[in-house]
Amino acid sequence: MSKYKVIQWATGVVGTAALKGVIRHPKLELVGVKVYSDEKAGKDAGELAGLQNTGVVAIQNIDAIIAMEADCVLYCPMPWDVAEICRLLESGKHVITPCPYWYPFFQDKEAAEQLQAACQSGKVNFHASGCNPGGIAERFPLTFTGWCNRIDRITMTECGDCRTYSSEGVIRELMNLGKTPEEAENNPIKEMLKAFWYEPIEMIAEGLGSEVVEYEARHNYILANQDIDTAVGVIEKDTIALNNYLHIGRTREGTEIIQEQIWYMDDIEQTRLQKTMDIPRRSGWRIKIEGDVNLIVDIGFPPELSQEEHVAQGMSTTGFHLVNSVPAVCDASDYGIKTYLDLPMVTGCMGNHTVTR
Ligand SMILES: NC(=O)c1ccc[n+]([C@@H]2O[C@H](COP(=O)([O-])OP(=O)(O)OC[C@H]3O[C@@H](n4cnc5c(N)ncnc54)[C@H](OP(=O)(O)O)[C@@H]3O)[C@@H](O)[C@H]2O)c1
Repeated sequence: MSKYKVIQWATGVVGTAALKGVIRHPKLELVGVKVYSDEKAGKDAGELAGLQNTGVVAIQNIDAIIAMEADCVLYCPMPWDVAEICRLLESGKHVITPCPYWYPFFQDKEAAEQLQAACQSGKVNFHASGCNPGGIAERFPLTFTGWCNRIDRITMTECGDCRTYSSEGVIRELMNLGKTPEEAENNPIKEMLKAFWYEPIEMIAEGLGSEVVEYEARHNYILANQDIDTAVGVIEKDTIALNNYLHIGRTREGTEIIQEQIWYMDDIEQTRLQKTMDIPRRSGWRIKIEGDVNLIVDIGFPPELSQEEHVAQGMSTTGFHLVNSVPAVCDASDYGIKTYLDLPMVTGCMGNHTVTR
């Protein structure tokens, strides 16, 4: 059986998990690694992933990556660039990413058109995956709606003590942790962030045979009452140490679809925050469906794991979801953007792994 040839693009927190997944996956062959940092360039991919050497060496040159022969690129940078994604697609490589665009057809028509055209030109597919979005926000709730009939509200809540998440870009820029409320209000990506959360809301609506007719965004913050040490440095007193984002879409029938995040830089007791909020869980996710069937699906990690392990495993789910999507995305027909409404079920793949107990 020939293997799918894969390039790993960027080896941050998510990219490193994906790299490990590619090296281990029995149906995949790692053929290239793109890195940004000078320290990582020239290193073996196995060393970057904490595994044995693979013979594949990390490089920085984008043209060399574009020229490589490969089936698929797992594109995991921060920030991302739609023009760069299009270049990869036009070079005849499928692209899977934890970055946008999960369902860009309404929120960013221009990007959707560019991606579709690049897919047609390269005769390939584009798929945005991940954990949330890319799983909790749309794939799993859509699956559970198959158990329901009348649906009044679907709520996805993500809770995370993020003190050990080391991505400055995600924590400080995307999630505003460590910024003042004024800085957060004026963050140029605020509107972009809304659009990103409306994308999976629209995918759910489409999956239910409906459409979103009304949108609402609420961004609530709680400040630190002292300096807090974290993996991205000190979150200073009087800056944001908990953010609670709510993005809501209402369908034409009145069904509410709610994406909620509670990201905080403290433990669940919240003694370092200026006030507390009711956080349903230390870290993990809740999918709640209300209607004539009322369902609560809690997804989390065993309580005996440390907080660091919770965050690391959360990031692994993001990376591994990309890796496990490779066969489905490479084999999908009618080149273009592939969402969960287009793809078959994505599963893990054990191959001939040795199981450890
Ligand atoms: N959908 C989801 O569930 C989900 C979850 C988490 C994150 N994400 C997204 O996944 C992406 C990666 O997240 P992460 O946690 O791995 O972030 P990260 O740890 O900050 O890693 C980002 C990587 O981007 C590369 N980079 C450095 N400078 C860059 C530049 N100027 N332009 C582009 N890339 C640059 C670096 O690669 P090297 O280290 O190889 O040099 C860096 O490690 C982000 O865009 C984030 O928004 C999605």
